[in-house]
Amino acid sequence: MSQNIRKLDVKVPAVAESAYAITIGRGMLGRLWGQIRDRWPALNPFIVTDAELVKAGHLKTLLGNESVPSFVIEPAGEVSKHIQTVVAIVEEMEKNILGRDSIVVSLGGGTVGDIAGFAAAIFKRGVPVIQIPTTTVSQADSSVGGKTGVDSSVSKNAFGAFWQPEAVYIDVETLMTLDDRQYRAGLVESVKHAAIRDKDYFEFFETNINAILDKDMAVLEKIAYTNCRIKAEVVAEDPTEKNLRRILNYGHTIGHAVESASGFELLHGESVGIGMIAAGKIEQRLGLVADNRLERIKELLLKLGMPTTIPTALDKQRLIELLRKDKKAVGSWPRFILLESLGTTFCKEGQWAHEVSQDTVEKCLDELYE
Ligand SMILES: NC(=O)c1ccc[n+]([C@@H]2O[C@H](COP(=O)([O-])OP(=O)(O)OC[C@H]3O[C@@H](n4cnc5c(N)ncnc54)[C@H](O)[C@@H]3O)[C@@H](O)[C@H]2O)c1
Ligand SMILES: [Zn+2]
Repeated sequence: MSQNIRKLDVKVPAVAESAYAITIGRGMLGRLWGQIRDRWPALNPFIVTDAELVKAGHLKTLLGNESVPSFVIEPAGEVSKHIQTVVAIVEEMEKNILGRDSIVVSLGGGTVGDIAGFAAAIFKRGVPVIQIPTTTVSQADSSVGGKTGVDSSVSKNAFGAFWQPEAVYIDVETLMTLDDRQYRAGLVESVKHAAIRDKDYFEFFETNINAILDKDMAVLEKIAYTNCRIKAEVVAEDPTEKNLRRILNYGHTIGHAVESASGFELLHGESVGIGMIAAGKIEQRLGLVADNRLERIKELLLKLGMPTTIPTALDKQRLIELLRKDKKAVGSWPRFILLESLGTTFCKEGQWAHEVSQDTVEKCLDELYE
């Protein structure tokens, strides 16, 4: 019997070819629904939002009197960011006889966006999603870049998919109802973007800090635009985080450990701010001291009302343990994103994430206790 073996190459692009527009403005939420209907006339929309967004009146502003199938996540926030919520969303879509010709519209912060995006990614093997972010975190960060997912009982974002949105609509007016602590902490992601990629943007932040704290909408539009430009540049070059995209993790390695050790008492942005200062201390120990950026970053974080030291209640050994378990650790110790100067990330031999000894990290942590 002859054995005819044939080989066939199947080329699957690692990432679906996709480009999407981000629309930024103020007070556009009330006009958006008509635009969405006009732009995707053949698709059946399904809205995912949360109870706080309903309470703040944003769902009503979006829809007016129109009745659209929807799912309201309750309670709002990280506690609901688990797979059961995604299951409930998918089943609700099926109950509404939605099929592959549906489009998910996410109205809310990062938790809603991550949950809705993941539900869209798996519903009938994937339907488009529109992101309408309503927090400083989601407008700066989570709505752009295509990372979606939910937490398991063991770790954050354990289930997930890269699922790029069809479009992103940022209305900075939605931020007016956001709790002040959430508002300020979320801005740390913007400071992060400035620190890693754009010195002029950092200076814009320094100059306009009072207007930012006052939620001046013209300034917020400029911030939203600059964040999206920076994130889009980085993500376009490295959509699935093979190398350059790691720079977005600046401040996050120690930040995540601090956030987790605090039992999530400290908000993500507050923890990342501490992580950025820790990175600055590491840079100083490694001789990366081209400018006075650490002082400037610290000063800006203080003006945003962020903590700049590690609370004494957070045990250092616990932080080290958490660093060892970091999901991006190599050989049970993470690598660190560091700055070369304000607005420029340190890159050595084409690598953006650097080895730093445990001893050096421990000494830096010691300096950070209040
Ligand atoms: N996918 C990514 O790339 C990415 C990036 C960063 C963060 N994230 C994820 O984002 C989540 C955090 O997002 P978040 O900080 O936006 O939190 P969130 O979505 O939980 O929002 C915080 C709180 O504010 C409320 N809220 C949201 N918008 C409001 C508004 N306009 N007015 C009044 N209340 C409002 C929410 O109901 C919630 O109670 C985390 O789960 C994190 O993992 C994802
Ligand atoms: Zn972050």
